[in-house]
Amino acid sequence: MIELKGIGKVYYRGSNEIRALKDVDLTVTKGEFVSIMGPSGSGKSTLMNIVGALDVPTSGQYLFEGQDVAKYSEDELARFRQETVGFVFQSFNLLPRASVLRNVILPLVYDRRIPVARRRELAVKACQSVNLDPDRYEHMPNELSGGQLQRVAIARALVNDPKIVLADEPTGNLDTKTGEAVMDTMHRLNQEQGVTVIVITHEREIAERTDRIVHIRDGRIYQDERL
Ligand SMILES: Nc1ncnc2c1ncn2[C@@H]1O[C@H](COP(=O)(O)OP(=O)(O)OP(=O)(O)O)[C@@H](O)[C@H]1O
Ligand SMILES: [Mg+2]
Repeated sequence: MIELKGIGKVYYRGSNEIRALKDVDLTVTKGEFVSIMGPSGSGKSTLMNIVGALDVPTSGQYLFEGQDVAKYSEDELARFRQETVGFVFQSFNLLPRASVLRNVILPLVYDRRIPVARRRELAVKACQSVNLDPDRYEHMPNELSGGQLQRVAIARALVNDPKIVLADEPTGNLDTKTGEAVMDTMHRLNQEQGVTVIVITHEREIAERTDRIVHIRDGRIYQDERL
């Protein structure tokens, strides 16, 4: 499903060159549940952004379902991000002035084929799937706990029924119990709906809940561990 071949990513900051990824080869098949582990600054988020087509590699090739993502038109890229991928960002990226339900609906609002009432139904369904308390739906993000915010971010990633979920530290800043509940949701999604899930984490215990741990250090994959 996902095939990265010799992927490199260089960021330029002034005259500084930061090689965030170096010659990364990675294949993820449909229905896999994978974690990516590595120290801070090792290139995990960069890798996730490339897989989700939020960023483009400097070198190498990215094939998605056999198609060269570099050859996608702007429309195809937009559709890929909107319909195929669900993102859970490291810092949630929720809109501060919109209610929980508005935040979850957000990925659907550009899709004119989905009637407004249906969007709301889908958002409620996504919130239910992460066990978010219904009396939170009309609250603003600043009125929620860390665990609730995390669930809203996951509900938003699921609302478009994506083929892949990319989650960047979805259990970061959560207590152990809430973190486990988040991983239960990811596990269910993978097992019951066959969604391909890639989770970035610093924590070994979290990574061990997945089927495969890809270890990255200094922009390179140095170990690919099947559990
Ligand atoms: N937009 C950018 N411009 C310049 N450098 C960047 C940019 N994004 C990331 N980098 C650099 O690329 C390297 C990899 O960053 P990345 O965010 O992928 O790390 P990470 O593994 O996700 O770290 P963390 O665990 O702290 O989130 C770092 O050295 C970072 O400073
Ligand atoms: Mg990161």
